[in-house]
Order: sequence, then structure tokens, then C-alpha cells
Amino acid sequence: MDSIFSDRITDVPRSFIREILKVTLDPSVISFAGGLPNRNFFPVDELKEATANVFESNCRDTFQYGKSEGYQELREFISRRYREKQNLDIPVDDILITNGSQQGLDLLGKTLLNEGDEVIIEEPGYLGAIQALSIYRPTFLPVGVYDDGMDLQKLAQVVESNKPKLMYTVPNYQNPSGISYTEENRRGVADILAGSKTVLLEDDPYGELRFTGERKISFKKLLPDNTILLGSFSKIVVPGFRLGWVVAPSPIMKKLIIAKQATDLHTTHFTQSILYQYLTNNDLDKHVNTIIEAYGNQCRAMLKSIEQFFPKTVHCTRPEGGMFLWAQLPENVSSLELFEMAVKDKVVFVPGRPFYVNNAATNTLRLNFSCADEEMIKIGIERLATAINELI
Ligand SMILES: Cc1ncc(COP(=O)(O)O)c(C=O)c1O
Repeated sequence: MDSIFSDRITDVPRSFIREILKVTLDPSVISFAGGLPNRNFFPVDELKEATANVFESNCRDTFQYGKSEGYQELREFISRRYREKQNLDIPVDDILITNGSQQGLDLLGKTLLNEGDEVIIEEPGYLGAIQALSIYRPTFLPVGVYDDGMDLQKLAQVVESNKPKLMYTVPNYQNPSGISYTEENRRGVADILAGSKTVLLEDDPYGELRFTGERKISFKKLLPDNTILLGSFSKIVVPGFRLGWVVAPSPIMKKLIIAKQATDLHTTHFTQSILYQYLTNNDLDKHVNTIIEAYGNQCRAMLKSIEQFFPKTVHCTRPEGGMFLWAQLPENVSSLELFEMAVKDKVVFVPGRPFYVNNAATNTLRLNFSCADEEMIKIGIERLATAINELI
């Protein structure tokens, strides 16, 4: 049977996280494993009203085939928001609506990568990007990320001695580590890439979810001609609509549109219309602030319990936003073993291993704080601390 599969799909790692999520179906398990936005903040009534509005207005147009580039008014909304929030000048023609930013990753792989092309990837890095790009069979060049961003010395070395075509980054509250690149680190990265042919892929699904500190400069400002941006409505409205976007300079955009047409002609017109109605009739900033307040409280609750219960030899990141933090156990302690013990105590997390393309640090783990309330977080971290103490 194996012989029927393409080499391309055989090489792609399975999502270990999907496996873990099965355990979390048991309601008595406290889960820090998922990467899901908190469903309590889905604007259900507002989306119901927006849907009714779509049916009452131009619904025959909505049910017709649409433009591959996406719903024009939605693209204009995204362009305006970049100007308002980040003072970025993004022409509407540089925006392609996709089925979540995850499809953006696939289309970019399709458009830019030949087998064996070199791609710089953060270590640890976003599993979904590792999966999506693996389909195109690149050679990954991992570069470590730490509390203040990327390892610049390693990056300079990798750029100098290879010909990386692409560099993938999540500079704001990275998935999985929760770290953000400092302004200085971003400028360091931009200096290293300036003049090279490497295209920088800035994936920013969490950027608006900042609960402390100031927004940092986008790579699009530092390397305007060489940066592709990925954005998403998944974390600020709902993930189930599968609506995200790619911002790419015009020569790349032309080819991306061909890839989009070949893949699915266009993203669903219906959901784009509903989302646009929602965005027009509601205050997105107010909604985002509600999410930020909750995630900020949950993150602080998790850090407080970590300080109280974890042994001091465990290092944890201190996220400025987003949904995750990252813990590093003492070197001899395996997070997979910890996982086995923690499941028995009805608390789960994601061991660090799937976030590495090679040489995994086996003592690391990702903790999600967006879905459990503050009380559950305290109980879950205390249980986890008991398991860690037994292993040390
Ligand atoms: C860094 C990163 N990029 C992309 C995505 C995919 O998001 P979307 O729902 O827009 O496809 C996620 C989802 O968790 C993510 O964490």
C-alpha cells in the first residue's frame, strides 16, 4: 500500500498535537495543550446578525463565484487596519485573501520552493509551517530563538554559508515559545538579510493580542521589498471561517494568484461577506480588547502559579501577548516522560519535540493559557509541578 503515496506526503510529519487533543476530549482533563482561541469570545450574536444582513442584501452575488484575490471590501479593510495600527502602507492589490494563514503558507511553498531549496526556520518553530512547507521538500536550516529573539550570530553564519530562499518567522509572541523579537533583534535580523536574496516570511496571527509592552516594528518596515506578511482573523474573530491573508510584493503576488486559482479558485465568498458585515457594524478594537484582557489575566495567573509551584530550575518565557508560554526543564528531565505522568494526573501540555526539525531539546514543553480559566490554570500548574518534582 505504501507505494501508492507520493514521496512528498510520506516526508511530512504527522501532527502530534492532533493526537494529544484526543486526550483532551475527556472533560475532567485540564488542557494546556491546544492552540485554540477561547470559544467564549466568539461573537456569536453579532455574526448571526451579519449573516442575516448578507441574506437580506446582495445574496445572489454572494453565492456566485468570486475573485481569486478575495472580497474587495475585506481587502480594503485589511489595508486600512495596517495603516491605523502599524502605520504600514499596504496597497490593496498586494493583499490576497486565503483559507486561513495556513493556506498562505501552502501557496507560498507552491510558488517559491523547489525541492532542496533552503528555508531558515525558527527553532523551536511553528509546527503548522514545518508541515505546510515540508510538502515542498525543502532543506530546513534551523536557527534558535531565545528570550529576546533570534540567535543573530547563527543567522549570520547560516545566511553566509548557504543560499536560503526563505526565512520563516513569527516575531510576535511566537508559537510555540511565546517570545517576541526585541526591536534591536529585529534590526539585527534585517541587517543580516539586507542585500541577500532571502525572502522573509513574517507570520503574525497574534500581533494584535498584546497584553503588555509596546508594539514592535514590523519586518515589512525594515525590509519592505523582501518581506511577505501573513495575517489572520482566526485569533481576533473566529477560526472556523478559515479567513486569513497574504501580503506580498507585486511580482510574487502575480504568481501567488495563479497558485490560488490552481488550488481552489477563491476563498468562500459567503464567509468573507459575513465577516465584512461584522467588521462594518461592530467595533473590532473593543472586541480585541476583551480578548486581550482575558488572555493577559490567564497568562499572569499561569506565571504566578509557576513561580509558586515549579522548582526554580525550570525556565519559563514571559509572553507579552498571544496564547503560549514555553518551559525548559532541567536537562536530564524528559518532557515526554513528564507528559505520560501528567496525563495520569489529568493535565496535558505539548512536549517540545514536534517543534524541532532535528535535534530536539527533549526537556522543553509548550503551555497554552487561552482556554483554561484562572482557577483551572492554578490547579493544572500545581498538578504539573507535582509531576515535575517526582521526575527531578
Ligand atoms: C504561527 C501560526 N501561523 C499560522 C497559524 C494558522 O492560522 P489560521 O487559522 O489563520 O490558518 C497558526 C495557528 O495556530 C499559528 O500559530
